[in-house]
Amino acid sequence: MGTTPNIQRDVVIIGAGPSGLTAAHELTKAGLTVAVLEARDRVGGRTWTETIDGAWLELGGQWVSPDQTALIALLDELGLATYSRYRDGDSVYIAPDGTRTRYTGEMFPVSAGTAAEMDKLIDTLDALAAAMDPARPWEHPQARELDIISFHHWLRGQSTDEEACNNIGLFIAGGMLTKPAHAFSALQAVLMASSAGSFSHLVDDNFILDKRVVGGMQGVSLALAERLGKNVILNSPARTVRWEETDGDYRATVISDNATVTAKRVVMAVPPNLYSRVSFDPPLPRRQHQMHQHQSLGFVIKVHAVYDTPFWRADGLSGTGFSASSLVQEVYDNTNHGDARGTLVGFVSDEKADYAFSLSPEQRKKEITTALAEFLGDGAAEPAVYYESDWGAEEWTRGAYAASYDLGGLHRYGPDQLTPVGPIHWSSSDLAAEGYQHVDGAVRMGQDTAATLIAALTK
Ligand code: FDA
Repeated sequence: MGTTPNIQRDVVIIGAGPSGLTAAHELTKAGLTVAVLEARDRVGGRTWTETIDGAWLELGGQWVSPDQTALIALLDELGLATYSRYRDGDSVYIAPDGTRTRYTGEMFPVSAGTAAEMDKLIDTLDALAAAMDPARPWEHPQARELDIISFHHWLRGQSTDEEACNNIGLFIAGGMLTKPAHAFSALQAVLMASSAGSFSHLVDDNFILDKRVVGGMQGVSLALAERLGKNVILNSPARTVRWEETDGDYRATVISDNATVTAKRVVMAVPPNLYSRVSFDPPLPRRQHQMHQHQSLGFVIKVHAVYDTPFWRADGLSGTGFSASSLVQEVYDNTNHGDARGTLVGFVSDEKADYAFSLSPEQRKKEITTALAEFLGDGAAEPAVYYESDWGAEEWTRGAYAASYDLGGLHRYGPDQLTPVGPIHWSSSDLAAEGYQHVDGAVRMGQDTAATLIAALTK
């Protein structure tokens, strides 16, 4: 074993996902020196574009929506183009009794009574989200009241229509936080809506799943890392953060597998569920110790199924399907830019993902492709390439898509989630206001953290 190099920088960043790399990029532009320590052998974190069995797949984050202006501006700066998701034709809804219906527009083809209940719930959630500053959800007039009730029970307090509750629950529980609706609060649900501009935006797949990045979303991180060159150090998990303060000046040392970096500030650009993988000396304050135990990642299997052609289009189908009762709660046409083959992407979330992973790989594939076929026809049962993104098994992520608080945690701990500890700052999509849980939020957090550090270090 050789000795690891000792490096001196203004700022050391832990994590080369979009948040850490954006922070590093902004700090470098301001003339500060940086080192980015990354545990994996690649950059991009929860964005990862990979060729599997000859199919080019977006294994992690991929979609961009019109409100995600920080990401859109960064894509422009990096010269990365976007393209629209295919969406022409009918969508498919599978009702709780298994009835399959084709439809157009945003409202599911449910009974008039259920549609009215869904509209009422959407209006209520829009009003709650409009009254929230996503940077300060704990200051919402009903913050505590909404944070001590699960989203599941809150919905049932608003409506006795079970189908309406499950459909509205789907957009945030299975669809976004990827936890069962009984496992997070109504306040956390309203934050999810508010961070995307409104609840109506989450219901509108044409809005929330608008564009994709030509070449893949990981391209953002790859382009940033290219600019940072040797300042990004791969295969180098940070193990210890040690720091001291002398006359108001901080000196921090981060010990990682491939380098030891001494710096004035540290950016923890990893999801909160991984903070405890690092030893802090001195230990973090008790408030952080407690808070970090209440932030956990959701769990979803992103399923990729590739076919010789996008055959569903010939049948007048867009490839979009929803069902709160199916194993695959959502499916979309995910055909790549300029690709003759057709790709579907489906999502198996939270308790359904637990069930799916209790099956053998063969049985799991069979049940998932059978569910795809129920939406889009028998052809969907026989993909040429089939792959499951399994982020729960990834050592340096441990779930998908992102972190949220358990019941009551958001208003209890949220006000302190961005409070620096000595030289240590926190930056990830999991802590964002606008773009919460999304690449856009990761970029915003990276920019905000960099701005704070530039102000502190260049005065
Ligand atoms: P991220 O997790 O990306 O990066 C953190 C980095 O820190 C990782 O590279 C990790 O290896 C590293 N690390 C961890 N511990 C370390 C240690 N001790 N030392 C050194 N390095 C360490 N978003 C979106 O906008 N549109 C979408 O369509 C989707 N869809 C989607 C699907 C799936 C399956 C997933 C998993 C995620 C999404 N997302 C998404 C979410 C999006 O990918 C996510 O919000 C961002 O990647 C978060 O970026 P961060 O930089 O905050 O963390």
